[in-house]
Amino acid sequence: ATRKLLLLPGDGIGPEAMAEVSKLIAVMNAEFDAGFETESGLVGGAAYDAHGQAISDADMERALAADAVLFGAVGGPKWDGVPYEVRPEAGLLRLRKELELFANLRPAICYPALAASSSLKKELVEGLDILIVRELTGGVYFGEPKEIVDLGNGQKRAVDTQVYDTFEIERIAGVAFELARTRRNKVCSMEKHNVMKSGVLWKEVVAATHQAKYADVELTHMLADAGGMQLVRQPKQFDVIVTDNLFGDMLSDVAAMLTGSLGMLPSASLGAPDPATGKRRALYEPVHGSAPDIAGQGIANPIAMIASFAMCLRYSFNMIEEADRLEGAIAAVLEDGLRTRDILSEGGREVSTSAMGSAIVEKFRAL
Ligand code: NAI
Ligand code: MG
Repeated sequence: ATRKLLLLPGDGIGPEAMAEVSKLIAVMNAEFDAGFETESGLVGGAAYDAHGQAISDADMERALAADAVLFGAVGGPKWDGVPYEVRPEAGLLRLRKELELFANLRPAICYPALAASSSLKKELVEGLDILIVRELTGGVYFGEPKEIVDLGNGQKRAVDTQVYDTFEIERIAGVAFELARTRRNKVCSMEKHNVMKSGVLWKEVVAATHQAKYADVELTHMLADAGGMQLVRQPKQFDVIVTDNLFGDMLSDVAAMLTGSLGMLPSASLGAPDPATGKRRALYEPVHGSAPDIAGQGIANPIAMIASFAMCLRYSFNMIEEADRLEGAIAAVLEDGLRTRDILSEGGREVSTSAMGSAIVEKFRAL
């Protein structure tokens, strides 16, 4: 099978992390007949430097034609002064918009080897495996009107509008239920129906979607503020959490801190299935940014990027065995004590970005 990947390494540590994924792709092609066909493009500051845009039309075309996009990170002080429309982040926003990536998947996993050195209680986080499914293209970040109005009496009024239509809630709920079936079969939906109309509709549509197509999945509802509390108090009660854009932004950052470093956190953004092929558009990226403070030193943690590639194997190519094996390889090198600087603790052995990547490739081969 041919599997078309577009690699957009971007800026700062993006290319350093992507290089480690490229090693894996090469080995999977050579030894496992994976059939990946990769192209590389420019995004962010790198694209701006080359042609004055945060992503070129040609690379956008490649992204639309690919089965999946692997994205590194964009931005950095070098581009602080560039015009707003072509700032590095504009590249990512254009990709999200044109690929219609409405579902953002943020796993919070605590690797056993890191549970011991967690600043949180070990029994709280050991074995943690949550998936937060955040609606990404609607809600208060995009709703109109969105403005600051001058009231003329020395006062201004800021207006943001939370808007959700039935179809937007249905499709994100569908993603959450489908993912739950591949996991522990539990979904918790979070909103605030007690004070928000969008919460009332959210709860109603999630329940109706559940009834109609996913009654085999266990569904619970929780108010989003209580959900935040429960995430910190007893995170292991959750399997899949589905929530809107704003609550998802906050709750996924809270969940992230249960698991340790930013350098460990992967994400996926999925679009609607193509009616003809059933394939979803998808982009995979680490949660972290371009980390200008450590770029070019060979010390960045490549695990977030590599784990994002594992999500790509799982969700875009249905390569479940390979995804499990890659995640197992990450867990195994951590078990062996290998650490990049950001996750270094007593008894760990500090290694470079490249050494960490190579060790994961070797484990992948051996497992
Ligand atoms: P950041 O995530 O780049 O870095 C925050 C801190 O975490 C830094 O101290 C960094 O060294 C550390 N860190 C991040 N990833 C790491 C890794 N893989 N290994 C080891 N340490 C790691 O966030 P920050 O500093 O707020 O933003 C830096 C630039 O990145 C800005 O230009 C920002 O706009 C951009 N950014 C881009 C994102 C993206 O491309 N999706 C997301 C977040 C920020
Ligand atoms: Mg955030």
